[in-house]
Amino acid sequence: MNSLALFLLAALTASAADTYTIAVIPKGTTHEYWKAVQAGTVKAQRELAAAGVSVNVIYKGPLKEDDREQQVQVVENFIGRRVSAIVISPLDANALIAPLATAVQGNIPVLTIDSGVNSPLASCYIATDNREGGRVAARTLAGLVGSHGRVLMLRNAVGSANTEEREEGFLEVMKKEFPGIKLVSTDQHGGVSRDNAYRTSQNLLNRFGRELDGVFACNQPTTAGLLLALRDAGLAGGKINFVGFDSGAVELLALKAGDISALMVQDPFRMGYLGVKNAVAVLRGESVPKLIDTGVTVVTRENIDQPAIHDLVTPPLDQYLK
Ligand code: BGC
Repeated sequence: MNSLALFLLAALTASAADTYTIAVIPKGTTHEYWKAVQAGTVKAQRELAAAGVSVNVIYKGPLKEDDREQQVQVVENFIGRRVSAIVISPLDANALIAPLATAVQGNIPVLTIDSGVNSPLASCYIATDNREGGRVAARTLAGLVGSHGRVLMLRNAVGSANTEEREEGFLEVMKKEFPGIKLVSTDQHGGVSRDNAYRTSQNLLNRFGRELDGVFACNQPTTAGLLLALRDAGLAGGKINFVGFDSGAVELLALKAGDISALMVQDPFRMGYLGVKNAVAVLRGESVPKLIDTGVTVVTRENIDQPAIHDLVTPPLDQYLK
């Protein structure tokens, strides 16, 4: 064997024995939704370990989902530490472009999960088809309200790509397919915390509550905030049809109790799992799809006990998180 071949063999052997360090960066760390993502990353890491691929997953994000600077800083720190790849849910579709582009230029591949950026820089984007999720939510709510009625939509946060797509999809279908439904309010943002969404919802219900037939909230904290406000105002229990997004413990109980009519449920566990699996595939030079749709399911009181739905809304957190 000549010296070049020996050198190449040594390099290959070294990289096979190396550990890949994958940084997983959520939008925020306070909401239950992200626990499922994190559990999915652990599942991927364990499977890879069992197959002889050593992966160190570092899970770190900003506390609040509107803290752009903090998320940018987390990305910059990971670039400084020379992680092998970054898997991220950007909390702002524009603010994260520059730091993520720096990572890619420095040979650190970036994969986006859950929410996207306005740039083709990611090797792979793994998420719900959010626009479609919004459309389905509109059809679900209209199915409950009927062809005529009054509806409002509570937005999430400016700059958050996935929830803005849901909002657009919802409005598109309401306007096109249900002209008899009047949209009484569609411009209010509940923000990134349940408490903020609760206050915004209280204001909306004070103003429109008595005349409403349906409401839509586009993610977990807005659903939780709107739920509280409906209960306070004595408008829960099906008096107003309520379609929410995501499936935290509180929202699931509310669905069973009849305070929420339907939940649009994503698959955050799979997003985390596929994020790590595909990051490793990219690092090993394998080709990965540019887009993976992890699906969205309409969950109601009628179907919640079906085994597949039950598994979706109760991911095995205990098995993967301490
Ligand atoms: C969204 C996430 C968001 C979470 C909690 C989910 O619906 O997909 O992007 O972080 O809600 O706000």
